[in-house]
Amino acid sequence: MPFITFEGIDQSGKSTQIELLSRDLSRARKSFINVREPGGTALGDHIRELLLGSGHEDMDAWSEALLYAAARAQLVREIIEPALEMGKIVVCDRYLDSSLAYQGFARGLGAERVLELNQWATGGLMPDLTLLLMLDVDASRRRLSRRATGGDRIENEPLDFHKRVEDGYHKLIQMFPERIAVIDGGQAADQVHQRVVAIINERFGWEL
Ligand code: TYD
Repeated sequence: MPFITFEGIDQSGKSTQIELLSRDLSRARKSFINVREPGGTALGDHIRELLLGSGHEDMDAWSEALLYAAARAQLVREIIEPALEMGKIVVCDRYLDSSLAYQGFARGLGAERVLELNQWATGGLMPDLTLLLMLDVDASRRRLSRRATGGDRIENEPLDFHKRVEDGYHKLIQMFPERIAVIDGGQAADQVHQRVVAIINERFGWEL
């Protein structure tokens, strides 16, 4: 069964789309699980606290990349691989493309090196399909400012960091044209959802 990931900058609407897709998958009686990164396991949730909680504002970029990769390794071994082996569809909110965009491009570690690290961490498990919700950084900042709670350590990075993430995602589309499907995340949620369903149906021959 396929391994599907959602990607995009902060506020690109991934969680809403995953909720809408889950509703369709349940209705079609497909067996699936949803996971999110970083986290999804007991160890991963601890690592998420280290990465996104306060108190580590001076975290080194390689420490950051390694912690995301460690959380991912645990999630792959503990949850994703067993679910795929049991014939379940796995839908993941962010996966290694986030590390390529945020740590590889935006932090400047280099996408090739971060990819190599992640291939090592995941045993080379790549998604069958990645749905990339593209939203420009200004629209993302506007959505963020409407939210009541303050941002996490990554969300609170300056504007130019988020622009580099956005550029990084554009580069990933070129690196993985077969795997990554791009959707305009600036549209209304139901329009984005229609595109998600159309792409999935076409790719896997389903009728959601
Ligand atoms: P989260 O609250 O899950 O954000 P979102 O709802 O936008 O997915 O926080 C995840 C944050 O971690 C997000 O700002 C992106 C960042 N991140 C990385 O920098 N590298 C990674 O490999 C992953 C998975 C996330």
